[in-house]
Amino acid sequence: PASARVDRHGELLVGGVGLAEAADRFGTPLYVLDEDEVRARARTYRAALPGAEVLYAAKAFLSSAMADWVGEEGLGMDVCSAGELRLAVEAGFPPERLLLHGNAKSTEELRLALRLRVGRIVVDSFSEIPRLAALSIARSPQPVLVRVVPEVRAGHHESVRTGVAGQKFGFRLAGGDAEEAVDAVLAQPGLRLAGLHCHLGSQITEVEPYLAAVERLVGLMARVRDRHGVELSELDLGGGHGVCYLPGGPELDLAEFASRVPAALAAACARHGLPVPRLLVEPGRAIAAPAGIAVYRVLSVKRSSDGRVYAAVDGGMSDNPRPALYGARYAVRLVGRVSESAARAVDVVGRHCEAGDVLVRGARLPADLRAGDLLAVPTAGAYQLSMASGYNLVGRPAVAAVRDGRARLLIRRETVEDFRAREVGR
Ligand code: LLP
Repeated sequence: PASARVDRHGELLVGGVGLAEAADRFGTPLYVLDEDEVRARARTYRAALPGAEVLYAAKAFLSSAMADWVGEEGLGMDVCSAGELRLAVEAGFPPERLLLHGNAKSTEELRLALRLRVGRIVVDSFSEIPRLAALSIARSPQPVLVRVVPEVRAGHHESVRTGVAGQKFGFRLAGGDAEEAVDAVLAQPGLRLAGLHCHLGSQITEVEPYLAAVERLVGLMARVRDRHGVELSELDLGGGHGVCYLPGGPELDLAEFASRVPAALAAACARHGLPVPRLLVEPGRAIAAPAGIAVYRVLSVKRSSDGRVYAAVDGGMSDNPRPALYGARYAVRLVGRVSESAARAVDVVGRHCEAGDVLVRGARLPADLRAGDLLAVPTAGAYQLSMASGYNLVGRPAVAAVRDGRARLLIRRETVEDFRAREVGR
């Protein structure tokens, strides 16, 4: 986080709170979220894109506190399950600022979204359109967006490239599926077609893919106008804004995005004689990731006969599956003490029963690293807690928020009792 400072005892302070002190108080593994950083990032987005609507993608990380922070800073929220939807609404998030996604929404989820009156629902398949329309209660038509596959390749890993043909989301442009979906929505009096949506992928560090998507989607908007005389009022470009994980690593330049994307949208609309739709963006990682830092305790340090050094920590792939899933790379540093030792290459590994449970390969850490030391992994606020599992019944970590020199527990550590409480038979 931007607030991170190191004091002379080697203590890393985030939001004015020492991480070693927080680790002592709450235990490890501990995820620390810097509330001010989340709020500042939300505000930066709003200021950079004044004409646009910014929706936080809750899949990156969601808790009631997070819903409060982004809600109070004026963001909307993208939710993709009944769980995210209910948590947001029960936390007091305004439903009209919610947008529901999903390629496989259940009837219960659609019914709940309609009953709670979410602002928008993004339709993702032909069968969903009449199903949603049949559930929609006649008082006022439900605004929907049609999710389109723009056939633009972007994102850090094949698993997250959702803008290309041959993956499960959305309606293809080629072959006319997207136009047919638009026809199907327009044919339903219970639905109001607000606009189009696309999501290219995640951890995108360049603006060009978004510019390409704008061209394709505005082209479709023009065809919709020619065919139906309907001018769509919204264009949602999804999320995917990349952040910096390693020192000097690439990230999406928000200022460049904000200067080029709305301009490209205006230019494309002018070319087609269309009014400029309202732009929507759905950043998840860019709001949450840099605000989080994971703190682990070293449980053992091992030197193997081939010269490798392994430092095993008390978390791993159950709290951060990203290295195992995507080969994601992270930085790591010693916290809580100053070491004068020279740095050497260390594989920081987790505690799980798989050789692939490696958090950081080849980290530069002091040669005197020992059991009991604390290690911190920055940029940990997105897609770690939200993808955490109960593997080996280790229990998902505690989550604390820091602000103005004070720490408070947001989510307690998961315990064996939690696992056992779900057992109802034997
Ligand atoms: N909108 C939609 C429709 C999405 O599917 C996603 C992410 C977002 C917005 C937010 O994307 P972001 O700004 O956070 O990149 N687990 C993967 C990332 C999966 C992203 C899924 N969809 C990872 O850890 O890299």
